[in-house]
Amino acid sequence: MWKASDKLMATIKYYASFPATGVSLRQMVQFGETPSPGTLFRASQFLSEELPIRLAHRVEELNHLPDGLNDMPSIKKVKDWYAQSFEEIINVPKPTLSEEVKAHLLRPMRNHGKESKPLSETTWNPSVREGQYRSSPTTISSPPTHANGQEYGTINGNGKAKLTSSRRYFVPSDDYTDWPPEIDAFNQRFRKTLQQIKRRHDGVVTTVAQGILEYKRKRQRLQIDSSIQAFLDRFYMSRIGIRMLIGQHIALTEQTHAHHPNYVGIICTKTNIYDVAMEAIENARFVCEDHYGLFEAPKVQLICKPDLNFMYVPGHLSHMLFETLKNSLRAVVETHGPEKEEFPVTKVIVAEGREDITIKISDEGGGIPRSSIPLVWTYMYTTVDQTPMLDPDFDKSDFKAPMAGFGYGLPISRLYARYFGGDLKLISMEGLAGKDEDETIPRIDAYECTGPAPEIED
Ligand SMILES: Nc1ncnc2c1ncn2[C@@H]1O[C@H](COP(=O)(O)OP(=O)(O)OP(=O)(O)O)[C@@H](O)[C@H]1O
Ligand SMILES: [Mg+2]
Repeated sequence: MWKASDKLMATIKYYASFPATGVSLRQMVQFGETPSPGTLFRASQFLSEELPIRLAHRVEELNHLPDGLNDMPSIKKVKDWYAQSFEEIINVPKPTLSEEVKAHLLRPMRNHGKESKPLSETTWNPSVREGQYRSSPTTISSPPTHANGQEYGTINGNGKAKLTSSRRYFVPSDDYTDWPPEIDAFNQRFRKTLQQIKRRHDGVVTTVAQGILEYKRKRQRLQIDSSIQAFLDRFYMSRIGIRMLIGQHIALTEQTHAHHPNYVGIICTKTNIYDVAMEAIENARFVCEDHYGLFEAPKVQLICKPDLNFMYVPGHLSHMLFETLKNSLRAVVETHGPEKEEFPVTKVIVAEGREDITIKISDEGGGIPRSSIPLVWTYMYTTVDQTPMLDPDFDKSDFKAPMAGFGYGLPISRLYARYFGGDLKLISMEGLAGKDEDETIPRIDAYECTGPAPEIED
């Protein structure tokens, strides 16, 4: 079994004293559909510093969790995954390059017209409190600060400061076409390392959940307190950011979507909401039929312009829709009873505003008592009596889940919504017994608007 050496832990501690650097959606799409080996090489270099910093923060945080949570076997296991991935990235051998190639890699960025504006502009996400998802614990001794006193590396579209980092994610290579095979070999080696890491971390959400269960059992706690809730928010938000960077880099290097004109890596510049919603509806209904043994799941009506599209990561959108729809279908079936022949229809309404796209999902599934509403955002809060088996290997894909039972569906979906500057809100309508409407509204910003793209970070 892999074990972190003391030397490695000291290196991790050192890396954790550096703040993470934000990467914006705009920077991510600037790569275009087919980046050159030189451009990919520069992105790999950025990531080979940035990812270890972000991983190191997580190791440190897991190490210092309060109240003995850090000693739970599953938490230790996850910490080891982060440390091992850290080690693998810093050990990817760097290629030896000729002076000529080095000169081309170092050439100052040419002016690419409007695309070469400073990239760190951010829009403020009103749903996120300042510093809410800050990756660097404030205890780090004297982090480098910006002239106005703000910490470098703003978080998730909530950075109000205009920061310019010296390290850049996207730097276009010049017109040089003679990239030596070492460049491509390094790019491929780096991609393979990232793939291995991504796979290793597939089970992080379920394993951390397992760790929290171990803690609750050991400490005889019924609910997690706000500091653990805040840790989980930060931890999972960071995971979304790390996986976004890794997933994007793998897709760019592999040219996964090269045949698809609207894709830059895993970002779709024209995500069709109708199609994504249709698929999520079908999947949620399928899971519902399977779970309750129904001949036909409750119907879902989609009201959306068929050609409505915006720049987004389709995987994130389908995750949010799938989770909220599963909740609605469960509420409808359990309120009306699985024997019922005709269920009320759940509605999905998509509205296109000037700046945002809003999706409203409303069901007649009995609603939620007012006193329980704050709890739905708590990790591990569920009204399912028996939590399904938490086997990390069982839930390999991020986007495949059982009907309900972990109490993770809503809090994680809200992180996805906030990650790109949107939000997820739940409104329960009181007083309409049996016909309560529950509305879950993921608000998603459309990034084709002219405003600055938000900063994405871990
Ligand atoms: N549309 C809804 N109508 C009524 N109750 C709801 C609705 N959506 C969520 N809830 C309540 O909120 C709780 C938490 O939802 P959440 O999706 O976070 O967890 P879950 O569905 O129990 O488990 P999972 O992690 O598998 O999704 C649910 O158990 C349910 O009691
Ligand atoms: Mg759920």
